[in-house]
Amino acid sequence: MADLRTLLETRLAEAFATLSPGADPVVRPSDRADFQANGALALAKSLGRSPRQVADEVVAAANLEDLCSVVEVSGPGFINLTLSEAFLAGRLAEMAADPRLGVARAEEPRRVVVDYSHPNVAKEMHVGHLRTTIIGDALSRVLDFCGHEVIRENHIGDWGTPFGMLIEHLVNLGETEAAQELSVGDLDTFYRQARVSFDADETFRERSRHRVVLLQSGDAETLRLWRVLVGESLRYFDEVYAKLGVLLTDEDVVGESFYNPQLTDVMAEFEAKGLLVESEGAQCVFPEGFVTRDGDPLPLIVQKSDGGFGYAATDLAAIRDRVGRLGADVLLYVVGAPQEQHLAMCFAVARMAGWLGEGAEAEHVAFGNVLGPDRKMFKTRAGTTVKLVALLDEAVARAADVLSERSQDLPAALHEKVARAVGIGAVKYADLSTERTRDYIFDWDRMLAFEGNTGPYLQYAHARICSIFRRAGAAPASGRPIIGEAAERDLALGHAGFADAVDSVVRDRAPSRLTSYLFDLASTFTTFYENCPVLRAEGEVRSSRLLLCSLTASVLSAGLGLLGIEAPQQM
Ligand code: ARG
Repeated sequence: MADLRTLLETRLAEAFATLSPGADPVVRPSDRADFQANGALALAKSLGRSPRQVADEVVAAANLEDLCSVVEVSGPGFINLTLSEAFLAGRLAEMAADPRLGVARAEEPRRVVVDYSHPNVAKEMHVGHLRTTIIGDALSRVLDFCGHEVIRENHIGDWGTPFGMLIEHLVNLGETEAAQELSVGDLDTFYRQARVSFDADETFRERSRHRVVLLQSGDAETLRLWRVLVGESLRYFDEVYAKLGVLLTDEDVVGESFYNPQLTDVMAEFEAKGLLVESEGAQCVFPEGFVTRDGDPLPLIVQKSDGGFGYAATDLAAIRDRVGRLGADVLLYVVGAPQEQHLAMCFAVARMAGWLGEGAEAEHVAFGNVLGPDRKMFKTRAGTTVKLVALLDEAVARAADVLSERSQDLPAALHEKVARAVGIGAVKYADLSTERTRDYIFDWDRMLAFEGNTGPYLQYAHARICSIFRRAGAAPASGRPIIGEAAERDLALGHAGFADAVDSVVRDRAPSRLTSYLFDLASTFTTFYENCPVLRAEGEVRSSRLLLCSLTASVLSAGLGLLGIEAPQQM
């Protein structure tokens, strides 16, 4: 099933083509009707004719009888489209019978790498990893649902000079002790103490430097110790992922170390393509259009003057690997806005090397910051970074309190499970419902409120519908609804917009499109429920309204599911 907008667009495109081949109908949702086609204005201009006349001719040529009850030209030449009740009813019947709720699979499935979460080994996962993890996960779910082939890659920081110091600290502590500290998530203490020893103790510094050399030359014992560090950190990350309910597993980990053996090939390829320029002893590539503050060409340093490789080299190897080995055609980097220049330069260099361009493209899916109530970076009261686990535990505890207060009917056995769904759901929803590139203030009361555009509000709307069915003693209905009342029509139109909402998440890489849609749908449902009695109705009106309820619940739970948020049946 194509989404409504595409359906109308296809039909109108045929009519536009009778005037000029390939003219774009430009169909948009509208306040005046259900949809509006604005393409006549541009076409009239290019034909040198009156827009109203063009619009009239398009309307005369268009075949929309089975879709629309009213098609009229308004204003300077807009075409207003009102869907017919019969069409909407048929559409809903199809949706109700379709496990995909009318969301089509992509006609041209892409192979998409989603690079997200990417914490660093032996470093705490803090609130800074929240957005990448939540947004990356939601995008992965939606892309997958839309029929794309998703490859999740967790590009963890597990290589580089700090590992000399970290391994030496591990040796100092003793492996058992160190493993213990790391696996319970005392990553920051571990890292900080390693740093303290490094700064204070010359022999420790010496040992650390030597350790880096051993690590890079593949010394077996050093690699074993390194694996202890990585393994314990991963165990801890997995705990955070389990709490958060995201898809990432150890199988998705493709850390910086993975690319280490490929770096010489990358260098050789750059060399062969004549891209390398030596600058102050370092091997660099100068992508066009990047300049320093003084206006000089800005290099991307691929190999440092001491022969070492850095973050950029790894990212270049990653692009080459993702396109070459994995055959990906889209690379999404769900990474904070501050890395914009780094990524843009890597993409530009990859284009120079011929890895990106035709066939494969890379995109920085940037996001804004999480702020505290003071509008500064979100910190603890003591001014330290907020540990992600602590934050998630607090979310669940607060949700449990809210539920104890509000939901006396909730069976005790379900309390803990629902508190987890609501607490984690609230954190995820607050994040996803913020327009991706904007900052947001982390505010417990707002995100846990049962009113407004929040996770709990939508979960509650869903649970309330489930309770209608418990009271009705009826299984969720199927069939074809009768669309009589205005509130029924609005709700039906809401349902029919699901596919377009899902599609726009993919198109704009914007989960907030789906949250806005779900929030609107829940509000439309409330109006419907206030105006149209369901259980007190009779006969086919009752079944029809039960069907509308059931479809609302399905769309809410599927929509929340695509965002990685649970929809409990009871709350
Ligand atoms: N580990 C890095 C950091 O914490 C983020 C990695 C982002 N992904 C990438 N391919 N560069 O800053």
